[in-house]
Amino acid sequence: MADQAVPHPHVSASPWWLQPVATVVILTGFVIYSIWVALQGHGYVAPYLSPFYSPPVRVGGIPISPAWWVLWVPAGFRATCYYYRKAYYRSYFLDPVSCAVGESRRRYAGETAFPFILNNLHRYMLYLAVVVLLFLWRDTIDAFVFNGHFGVHVGSLLFLLNVLLLTGYTGGCHAFRHLVGGNIDCYSCARAGRVRHGFWQWVNPLNLRHANWAWASLFSVVIADVYVRLLLAGVITDPKLF
Ligand code: FES
Repeated sequence: MADQAVPHPHVSASPWWLQPVATVVILTGFVIYSIWVALQGHGYVAPYLSPFYSPPVRVGGIPISPAWWVLWVPAGFRATCYYYRKAYYRSYFLDPVSCAVGESRRRYAGETAFPFILNNLHRYMLYLAVVVLLFLWRDTIDAFVFNGHFGVHVGSLLFLLNVLLLTGYTGGCHAFRHLVGGNIDCYSCARAGRVRHGFWQWVNPLNLRHANWAWASLFSVVIADVYVRLLLAGVITDPKLF
């Protein structure tokens, strides 16, 4: 019997260009959608506050959409994320485009010059993103309160799913993993070592699947906002489950 070619377990059957093209399409679509949402100037229908508008910030009488005061935090957090950097370097800049495919650049400057040097701010974006995440948890609790009473609607569950995915994405951040487990040789000897070890054990499995959390939470944010907008437009109702 003739030898049959057996594909390597890590070699994808899809063409090499599919992943970078899909990444460009999805990320570009997300950026365009985010700008459009911010230009709407509102994103609340009781009891749901769109994640693009949380926390609701108003500065004096400056007549700009409240979303602009907030969006730079999650945008900066994702743009400087180690996983997204890999994704957009490969897909937008073809750097490198794929394994075994030649690179397009002649010189490697790393992240030492503007604008990519800003990627080194990721750990600080993490601190700000955690603050925003706490507000999103508060919004999710509000999403279960209808006229002062506890209730569960489809929107409540969508908001819960969204904040869980965002928590998984943030919790698996490489900078967060370093924060809780970095620079430690011995947990039992370190200050607050038991707490840090507990966090580290929680973060590790999230970190392993960081790319999955990144994409899932990107979609869930959009879905939560679309749901709010469809309610606002009167296109759908918010079915009560119990
Ligand atoms: Fe992706 Fe920090 S590395 S969010």
